Amino acid sequence: MAKNFVGEAASREEDEVRYGWVYKGGTLHCDGMALERLRQDLRQEFGYLASPAFVYSSATLTNNVRRYRDALAPLEARGVLSYALKANSNPALVKVLREAGVQMATTVSGNEILLALSAGFPGRQIIFNGNGKRRWEVELAVRRGVLLNVDSGFDARQVVEVAGEVGIRPRVLVRLNPAINPQTHPYLATALADSKFGVDSDQLEQVLRELGSGGRVAVVGVHIHAGSALTHLPVYVEMMQAAVRTLHQIRESGWDEASIINLGGGLDVPHTPPSPKIFNSTQPPSSPLATTSPTGTMETSTPTPGELVQVVLPHLPEGVTLLLEPGRSLVATAGVLMTQVLGVKVNAGRKFVVVDAAITEVIRPAFYGVQHPLLYISPPSHQDVAEVDVVGPLSENGDFLARRCLLQRPPAVGAALVVWEAGAYCASMASNYNLRPRAIEVLVQDAGSFKVIRRPQEFADLVRDYL
Ligand code: LLP
Repeated sequence: MAKNFVGEAASREEDEVRYGWVYKGGTLHCDGMALERLRQDLRQEFGYLASPAFVYSSATLTNNVRRYRDALAPLEARGVLSYALKANSNPALVKVLREAGVQMATTVSGNEILLALSAGFPGRQIIFNGNGKRRWEVELAVRRGVLLNVDSGFDARQVVEVAGEVGIRPRVLVRLNPAINPQTHPYLATALADSKFGVDSDQLEQVLRELGSGGRVAVVGVHIHAGSALTHLPVYVEMMQAAVRTLHQIRESGWDEASIINLGGGLDVPHTPPSPKIFNSTQPPSSPLATTSPTGTMETSTPTPGELVQVVLPHLPEGVTLLLEPGRSLVATAGVLMTQVLGVKVNAGRKFVVVDAAITEVIRPAFYGVQHPLLYISPPSHQDVAEVDVVGPLSENGDFLARRCLLQRPPAVGAALVVWEAGAYCASMASNYNLRPRAIEVLVQDAGSFKVIRRPQEFADLVRDYL
């Protein structure tokens, strides 16, 4: 039986194209909507070609949530799914995720707390994390009953102080630095012994003493976030074991009802772009671009949320709540960035495909060295490939989306491409560098229906704040 991109068995061809990302009739569809048609509709709506543009699939978002909820189902009320807003904080996506079953929002700034509140999460369903919290942010969190992750001695002192002033006893988790190598890109590793995050085991007792002073704070559990784009399940087992030891220590320090283990986020996504099935050859089409993980190794398999929960569950003590707070694995595969070819040039034999998207929209290849597959919306029907650099229009040599990748050639001027896996850490890390407007964002809701969820920026938007 055929399977669509989001992994569901499709009994009929129309089911196969209705959900997620698939090629049908030689052109890429999102939740049943042809992206060529979407481009035309957007051109009509705005009177010009709105490009680049992020496009998100509601069905993929919903399905990603379902996979976590199914994985946590054996724990019933003791399995809780939180969404790390930083991966993509567009409120329209947050709404879809919440309606699909996300129970909490993990935030890293006062403004993210405000966004979570306005998206309908009550304070009790918000987590506030950070290694450098400002006073107004802590005050906001305490007043709203947000669960705070305490990251250090100075953080603990500030929380205790604010709790005293405000007269509210906040619930907190202690963020542990477990000194684990999560085997990911160095910028994405947050639990190494010398990372800036969390409290190491030597300082734990002292931080617990700070938190205990005056009885102003309730320590309800422990938090560990080891890193991002993780593919090694044993890392989660190590995290869980360290969390259980810490939970005992917290209980022995007087908070004997502490019963939450927050294992953070971090799970990577399978790097499997949809493939155009337009070739008659017995060979599969050449991969548009080989995909590698941030560690630079070719990915063969990425664990699923189900596999993650399965390995940690045997270590979870009776009666303890397991909280997971993924970002990437809920949203990355739900989004692409549509872009178009502005021109092709050759310098010293090196071919450059210049597109209208840049590191202002997708900074990850330049920043972490990761590769995002690039796909034609309507691929040519031959298999000739050329090695090219796909670059943006910025005045930076580091402005590339892909280097030395294989692309079917020749990309014609105006040809539409998508940057795959752009739902996480792309729009949320975007900038206005070179006075470029932010890309619009579009949510496809069902076959043929879409909603613009981020309007185009104009010149006036970009200069408004200058005095
Ligand atoms: N919880 C905490 C405390 C975090 O710091 C993070 C992400 C998450 C949860 C969610 O992690 P995820 O499931 O998305 O891996 N800009 C980088 C990713 C940085 C992630 C930082 N922390 C990128 O583009 O890959």
